[in-house]
Amino acid sequence: MNKVQAFIQQSLQARKTAGNYREQKPATQLADFCSNDYLGFARSATLKQRVDDELRALPSQNGSGGSRLLAGNTAYAEALENQIAQTHGFEAALLYNSGYDANVGLFSSLPQRGDTVITDELIHASIIDGIRLSNANRYTFKHNDLSALEQKLKNAAGRVYVAVESIYSMDGDRAPLAAIAQLAAQYDAALIVDEAHATGVFGYGLVETAGLQQQVFAKIITYGKAMGCHGAAIAGSHLLHDYLVNFSRSFIYTTAAPLHQLTTIKMAYQLLESSSAQTEKLHQHINRFKSKVSASVQIIPSDSAIQCIVAGSNEKARAMASHLQTNGFDVRPVLSPTVAAGTERLRICLHAFNTDGEIDTLADLINNFTL
Ligand SMILES: Cc1ncc(COP(=O)(O)O)c(C=O)c1O
Repeated sequence: MNKVQAFIQQSLQARKTAGNYREQKPATQLADFCSNDYLGFARSATLKQRVDDELRALPSQNGSGGSRLLAGNTAYAEALENQIAQTHGFEAALLYNSGYDANVGLFSSLPQRGDTVITDELIHASIIDGIRLSNANRYTFKHNDLSALEQKLKNAAGRVYVAVESIYSMDGDRAPLAAIAQLAAQYDAALIVDEAHATGVFGYGLVETAGLQQQVFAKIITYGKAMGCHGAAIAGSHLLHDYLVNFSRSFIYTTAAPLHQLTTIKMAYQLLESSSAQTEKLHQHINRFKSKVSASVQIIPSDSAIQCIVAGSNEKARAMASHLQTNGFDVRPVLSPTVAAGTERLRICLHAFNTDGEIDTLADLINNFTL
């Protein structure tokens, strides 16, 4: 075994010893309380049919053929970007191949050496990775704590950015967006909001529902969650759009999304406009689940599709998840170090397509679980 192989083996063994070794599991036939397909768009026959119809009406094309800056640009992609910008109430939008790419592309290119990026301590890994690729300083503030944020803003140097998620992916709770926007404005910081888990669940996002487009410098929209497809967009000013086209490496140095992906995004927006019944159902399910979980169970306060039951240890989170899976529910544990030790949890995702019966049984199983 050479040095590289030894390193790989030791790293994997360390994970196994710590009890956090990761493995890919095939999709199950269990009741889905795990996917980000909150509105059921990813499995929607209507969406698939509309995409097929749209594609049939277009010139046949498989791959895009290159980067957006070379052969991969299309009038279709540009029209879609204009539509996205208009829908969300921003001047411009730029498509990326995924939310990960969008965050890495934005945060690696915009903040420069001497600048400061202040993020909530629970910010998504893709934003952390983007900032790491920049030469800027990153400081975190205690989750959703406005005075901690203000303290960091007071000490910040250079151009200052504040990055938050409108709905936090691991806790499911909301950022106090209006208050954060006010603080950012007071300290001349550019506010960037990742709306991955709010898009489609709360209208077009919480920036829009709160009417904060003027106060938000940029927002990240992802299409792999409630929108049921894949890809992402950054919405902001024309100036930001042009900057990203020139400097954002995950936009420039990659093959553009195929037409199929673009049509799916376009049709998902169309479907969302006529999906108020599904959205309503989703919120009924969220309320039902919360009302059925007993007061003795520790649940992280959230009104989003992400509901977390704190188990308190990797062992208990794993045992609870396995108990629920044995009983027919696809619920996954989130373990430390992905979340802080002591907050290991079940991350339960609710959907429009779950049934009342499933939700009630799931809550009962959680309420009655003992290790
Ligand atoms: C908050 C947040 N931002 C960005 C992403 C990345 O999006 P995508 O899955 O499209 O790469 C995710 C998904 O895990 C997320 O939860």
